[in-house]
Amino acid sequence: MTSKPRHMHFFLVMGNVGQHHGAWREPDSGIELADSIDFHAEVAQRAEAAKLDAVFIADHLAMLGREAHAPAQHLEPVTLLSALSTRTESIGLVGSASTTFNEPFNVARQFASLDHLSRGRAGWNMVTSAFGEENFGSEPLPAHATRYERADEFVEVTKALWRSWSADALALDRESGVYARSEKVHPIDYAGKHLTVSGPLNIPRPPQVHPVLVQAGTSADGMAFASKHAEVVFSAHQGIPAAKRYYEKIKNGARLCGRDPDSVKVLFGLSPILADTQKEAEERQRALAGLLNIDYVKQLVGFQLGGMDLSGYDIDEKLSLDLLPDPATVNRRQGRFDLYRQLIEDGETLRRLTEIEATAAGLQVAVGDVAGVADKMVAYFEAGAADGFILIPPSQRVDGRRLLGEVIPLLRERGYAREDYRGTTLREHLGLTWP
Ligand SMILES: Cc1cc2nc3c(=O)[nH]c(=O)nc-3n(C[C@H](O)[C@H](O)[C@H](O)COP(=O)(O)O)c2cc1C
Repeated sequence: MTSKPRHMHFFLVMGNVGQHHGAWREPDSGIELADSIDFHAEVAQRAEAAKLDAVFIADHLAMLGREAHAPAQHLEPVTLLSALSTRTESIGLVGSASTTFNEPFNVARQFASLDHLSRGRAGWNMVTSAFGEENFGSEPLPAHATRYERADEFVEVTKALWRSWSADALALDRESGVYARSEKVHPIDYAGKHLTVSGPLNIPRPPQVHPVLVQAGTSADGMAFASKHAEVVFSAHQGIPAAKRYYEKIKNGARLCGRDPDSVKVLFGLSPILADTQKEAEERQRALAGLLNIDYVKQLVGFQLGGMDLSGYDIDEKLSLDLLPDPATVNRRQGRFDLYRQLIEDGETLRRLTEIEATAAGLQVAVGDVAGVADKMVAYFEAGAADGFILIPPSQRVDGRRLLGEVIPLLRERGYAREDYRGTTLREHLGLTWP
């Protein structure tokens, strides 16, 4: 008798009409509704009907000239997730917030509030931010290592604030007039290199104690941070061997930090381009590429490559490794730089880099029919390269609908996706322990 497969975990990237920079131009993209709660509630409700662990909303703090070619992010993540908490019952609600351009007291309050409003479904993607410094004063972007050093303190402070109210702090004694037992509401008195915070938080303990901690970093500092703190890690790689190496590094890193490797779930980033047949899906991929403003995407690739001007290069040219800056000087996204450097080393053209950037922000693209994409997901999962997937549809209304309505049900039929939610909190969906 064959044993039943384990269940995969799934997050869906949402918050815009689709991730692909050109998909908003498709007739049924819904772009006119991108600022309306109804558009996003429909996506979240579909994700919940498919029994996904969570929806996820990214956060970027600058336009980078995007407005002439592709939609902005639109709504701020915690605000939108709070609205979605009233339109959904069970699905997790995860959003990004920067540890470089925020204070931990603010972030602790926002996610504690979201956790209370959603009765235990909140998750925080801890991002160190690779751009946007011009919107937060006149200082340059802090060095990569300094950003992670501050992030490390930031998460310690945030967790301490969430725990600053003991579980039995609330007395709610109308008779005596005692609202909370003050000896159970503790200051945190944190003083570190980057942060000084007294506490306690001005919100009682969140239902999950700590909203689920999420992170995506591929640099050495990023992986060290993930191994120490993250409960969910987004993996941004191309191909099973690279994904597997990353998976093993994160699990080993967690082990070295004295954590159970199963207490950190690695979700592989996948962008599915879906159609009735493989051939039609490939046609769809070409049609989507035809909607891009290639000059702008070239600019973005240059930005990710440490600030190169690629305007003079032909799109079908293979870039030479000698053109690239010294990796040690790259202060923005080191992981994305390494990925593109590897693709250039593998002989890929500038066209391929622009397509990866514009389709899936550096994540793996899977082009196929429903069964073909499901098979690819099973291959990653069975190879030990992922505990599940962070799914990033080019268009919510085209690929997203097929993904939730057809791919996930097929995986369920094959025993890889849950039939229903067992608990009510995101921690329970992910099988994580209580802090
Ligand atoms: C699925 C996914 C979602 C991400 N979301 C955000 C985000 O919302 N905001 C952000 O600034 N960075 C985001 N990132 C980028 C990472 O947080 C990180 O900056 C990037 O992987 C580079 O980190 P590194 O320099 O440690 O490699 C995301 C990355 C991935 C793979």
